[in-house]
Amino acid sequence: MKNLVSVGVSIIGVSAPTPTPTPNYPRAQLQRTRNGLWEAIQRVSSSVMSGIKRGDRTCPQPLCHTCSMRVIDEDRFGRSAWWRHDRFGMFIHWGAYAVPARGEWVRSAERMSVEDYQYAIDAFRPEPDFDAWAEVAASAGMRYAILTAKHHDGYALFDSALSDYTTAKVLGRDFVAEFLAAFRKRGIKVGLYFSLIDWSRPDFPHHADLHHPMRGAVPDHVPDLDSYRQFLHGQVRELCSGYGPLDILWFDFSYEGMGPQQWGADEIVRIVRELQPDAIMDNRMEGDGANPGSILTATPSPWAGDFASPEQIIPTQGVIGYDGSPVPWESCMTLNNHWGYCASDTVWKPASMVVHKLVECVAKGGNLLTNVGPDARGRIPTGSAKVLDQVGTWMDDNCESIRGCGPAGLPKPDWGWWTAGHGKLYAHVFEAPVGPLPLIGLRPDQVKLVRRLADGSEVPMAQCWTVSDRNDLAFLSMGPQPEFSYPLPDEIDTVFEITLA
Ligand code: GLC
Repeated sequence: MKNLVSVGVSIIGVSAPTPTPTPNYPRAQLQRTRNGLWEAIQRVSSSVMSGIKRGDRTCPQPLCHTCSMRVIDEDRFGRSAWWRHDRFGMFIHWGAYAVPARGEWVRSAERMSVEDYQYAIDAFRPEPDFDAWAEVAASAGMRYAILTAKHHDGYALFDSALSDYTTAKVLGRDFVAEFLAAFRKRGIKVGLYFSLIDWSRPDFPHHADLHHPMRGAVPDHVPDLDSYRQFLHGQVRELCSGYGPLDILWFDFSYEGMGPQQWGADEIVRIVRELQPDAIMDNRMEGDGANPGSILTATPSPWAGDFASPEQIIPTQGVIGYDGSPVPWESCMTLNNHWGYCASDTVWKPASMVVHKLVECVAKGGNLLTNVGPDARGRIPTGSAKVLDQVGTWMDDNCESIRGCGPAGLPKPDWGWWTAGHGKLYAHVFEAPVGPLPLIGLRPDQVKLVRRLADGSEVPMAQCWTVSDRNDLAFLSMGPQPEFSYPLPDEIDTVFEITLA
């Protein structure tokens, strides 16, 4: 029998928020750990670092230490172990839509025909420096990157024997091959985004489709889904067989009228599993950025994917199965408000926000995939490169509190978030306290040593009159005189590493 669990359990007597159960499923049972916080933290590193082995019934969710009986998809957690460890990746939306420079949906938004879009294909003659892109990703602390091999416009950045609508045929450049070579050389894991939708194909639904640029405008158009599926499967096979081992395949996306049946998702999964057995897949063969599909259920479909992919949002409780069980997940997020290059959009998220959101994802057991949209000349916009550079400065000092980390199972503090891993707790302090910092959830006798992660320097516990009535709560001294207030050493996020007694 399946033992239901929650990831929001209490570990030292204070209840963390519990996930909201869906009405159709029994409420997840909260169980208290027998052996306390230390054992729980030990499990973080071993489970996150090594993932789960076949037959191992230990929950791979960091600090979800109550579910030894729970049945989970071992393959999904095994395949994604490296990815759940690395936590932070780069999404790259790049294609001929960088010429109109109004985002990758420009054809649909402006109902632009394939003929009217041809000027963009003709003008797209970039000279990208993929080594420079890889450097931006690596120095931001990103460990994997995903390039749009083909977006909804259908113009492929790879060589395809099945189409002339590719940069390989038009420019003699296989950008996918070049991207893979540069990023692999830099030690970054590689993934390809592949659009299930193709607005360049005459056999793809036009008139009645929800998103097609020609929707409602061509009543006599007759789609041919058999022919489209054959082409789609053929291109997936080309990508899976012609470019060496791929770490991630990111399919996008399903919507009303177009889903697993229309894509022939069973065949896509068969091709991927045959040719790329270790690649992890997203959940959009049956879902989208808001609809997770069956990956959250007790009986996921064969095309449910290896991870959920919430888009432009970090779910309030992270992503968990309807029975409270863990599900690998990744929020994808733009740095401005577009995926593909948009010349007029300079609303860059500040580095502090990117760091805070990365920390929040990790604290909730997920990953963050942050996007860049290189321009029509093949350059990552300076605005996003600058932000990522600042994120990298923070990561240089603090990546240990991100990689190999996950939820701490402690209540969310007012000042930021907890993460846990490597047998430690990490306090991410975004907001300076008045006086000493309350280590919410920890008693003084539970704390052995606190150090600032950035420089390894010891931070003493506070003993002063302002906290003299709270023997049950550990307080950190934020400066030479504990009852005084001080600015944070790192105003983005000061991380304290806590070793428990
Ligand atoms: C959406 C959009 C798309 C973008 C993707 C990223 O599904 O259609 O343009 O590539 O999300 O998550």
